[in-house]
Amino acid sequence: MKIFIDSADLAEIRDAAQMGVIDGVTTNPSLVAKTGKPMKETIAAICEIVDGPISAEVIAMDTDGILKEGRELAKMHKNIVVKVPLVADGLKAVKIFTAEGIKTNVTLCFSASQGLLAAKAGATYISPFVGRVDDISGEGMQLVEQLVTIYRNYDLATEVLAASIRHPLHVVQAAEIGAHVATIPLKVIHQLLKHPLTDAGLATFLADAKKIPAKA
Ligand code: G3P
Repeated sequence: MKIFIDSADLAEIRDAAQMGVIDGVTTNPSLVAKTGKPMKETIAAICEIVDGPISAEVIAMDTDGILKEGRELAKMHKNIVVKVPLVADGLKAVKIFTAEGIKTNVTLCFSASQGLLAAKAGATYISPFVGRVDDISGEGMQLVEQLVTIYRNYDLATEVLAASIRHPLHVVQAAEIGAHVATIPLKVIHQLLKHPLTDAGLATFLADAKKIPAKA
């Protein structure tokens, strides 16, 4: 499974990149707004840190506006993936982007039917928002499983990018289901690493290491 970091914060992205565990980055308007920096400046800086797919979201909601913004973003760097909202005008733009060789990440997916249409339109990635479904007492991971199954049934090329990840179990479950990608906040990346038995084992080793005589 590919791991992307879900962040527009350069320090967070550097931290994850230095761990050697990320294959790409996803951003969204809320994450970019948190940086306090202009969108294109932020995306350009991210492209210099991670050599992998970098999702940058359009703001326009009409097909022509999405196409204009998306083409400008795609021109910035070979790794740019244009993030498009899951609405009719978005799918119309995805179809054209696909014909032009521009990669797309169709976002804010909350149903298998939405995901089916996004794949039919040619989306490179589909982003089911697991955490936001869980947040309203739904079963977000079931949506990931549905999409993986449907795409596999018909050999659809779209990659399932599990998004809105809230904790390590989401990551493990997405991997067990066979999601192609999980996009993960830095906090959860670090949580994936932590285990109390590792910490305890290390403490014992270090304490015992002090007992090793320096020389015979
Ligand atoms: O960036 C897309 C998605 O991962 C954001 O989800 O629910 O954490 O805002 P959320």
